[in-house]
Amino acid sequence: MNTAISLAYLAAAVCFIFGIKRLSSPRTAASGNQISALGMGLAIAATLLHGDVVDFRGILIGVAAGSAVGAFAAQRVAMTDMPQMVAVFNGLGGAASALVASAELVRLSMAGQEPALAIALPVVLGTLIGAITLTGSLIAFAKLQEIMTGKPIVFPGQQLANGLIGASLLALCFWSVADPTHLTVFWALVGMSLLLGILLVIPIGGADMPVVISLLNSYSGMAACATGFVLGNQVLIISGSLVGSSGIILTNIMCRAMNRSLFNVIFGAFGAGNGFAGGGGASNGAVKSGSPDDAAVILDSARTVIVVPGYGLAVAQAQHAVRELSELLGARGIDVKFAVHPVAGRMPGHMNVLLAEADVPYELLVEMDEINSSFPHTDVSLVLGANDVTNPDARENKESPIYGMPILEVDRSRTVMVCKRSMNPGFAGIDNPLYYLPQTMMLFGDAKSMVESILSSLREL
Ligand code: TAP
Repeated sequence: MNTAISLAYLAAAVCFIFGIKRLSSPRTAASGNQISALGMGLAIAATLLHGDVVDFRGILIGVAAGSAVGAFAAQRVAMTDMPQMVAVFNGLGGAASALVASAELVRLSMAGQEPALAIALPVVLGTLIGAITLTGSLIAFAKLQEIMTGKPIVFPGQQLANGLIGASLLALCFWSVADPTHLTVFWALVGMSLLLGILLVIPIGGADMPVVISLLNSYSGMAACATGFVLGNQVLIISGSLVGSSGIILTNIMCRAMNRSLFNVIFGAFGAGNGFAGGGGASNGAVKSGSPDDAAVILDSARTVIVVPGYGLAVAQAQHAVRELSELLGARGIDVKFAVHPVAGRMPGHMNVLLAEADVPYELLVEMDEINSSFPHTDVSLVLGANDVTNPDARENKESPIYGMPILEVDRSRTVMVCKRSMNPGFAGIDNPLYYLPQTMMLFGDAKSMVESILSSLREL
């Protein structure tokens, strides 16, 4: 029986690895999800068949409640709210690991046994990381859901206070590992970890939350991995390590795409009064605005068009309208491509998911590095609800907080049309000199209504 369970765990781990591999491309992502789900099914079945499980009633209630919440979330949560949902799920994952690890310690202590170092160490690590993940994720959720201010909460001596709490926590960890029977020390460690999770995330601006969520996702994996050692459960160790490492890799990719270090994201309090007033006085310039009819005429006479989607496209849910627009232009012999910036939107792969949902063919989606050389010989760049990812200050203005972030170089195309509702800034809270360039025309309005109006004007041409 034990061999069968070990083999099932191994098969589950293989499914997870193949599933993650397939998640790396939109073309294979759906099957990647199914393979990972199959792996998880196998892992759960093998665990339930393990001799230690006694009370199936509690487990069934848990499965029913968890499935109901999962199904509800999958149906109801809007794509733009996905980061919040992931935050809550990470937090609950961390809480589960911390609870299981602490329960094992309490169980051993009630049985009058002193846990060996091989148990005490992962118990302490699983609880510490799990508790930090729980409260950190809840704060991330509250910031993104606007239950609390999205601005960084900073106060004098904050980093010193965090440092002191961190140092005390470290001391408690050593104490607890050295003497795991001392439950008061352990509960103090739990309390301090919960507090540190809050204090570490409150100074981070809502804007940086997707990076923080990815980092917390990694923490939840590490907590699960530690708990796997407590229980001697291989599949938990493997899946926890996979989540932990993939979360760190994703965090790193996001930081690189924003040209920021993880240290700057966590301790930089980005957005706390570092408002930036435009690139070299560009904000004082005049903007040219046009109507959907103007846009239709310009598009109709173009030979090459690059559509640049951003967060606003997701807010407006304009993906279906934009697919129709690309089909109409394509039918008129115009070459249309979609430029995808790695951090456009609010979560990794946001634009890919959005455009795939509207059945925009994958071959029309071109990554930033590949498409940037095409802008100088592109007739029209149509920017739909994207802002920061097109800001030329990131390339040219050393004073800009986003200086160095790689951008889609739409300003190098012959005509730029930018659809947004107002002159309000985007995520980074800074002005965009693109809007004041002579070749730029603003199309003020909601992206979906604007694209639909352009479509009807085009049909009349
Ligand atoms: P943003 O710079 O945030 O700009 C989005 C623009 O969409 C806003 O300026 C807004 O202007 C416009 N908008 C909002 N609703 C709209 C609607 N209904 N119709 C038309 N326009 C609308 O977005 P971006 O260019 O996609 O850049 C993403 C930002 O998020 C970057 O700064 C990036 O660093 C950051 N970020 C992304 C991630 C990931 S993983 N994607 C993670 C962390 C941070 P109006 O209000 O005037 O309409």
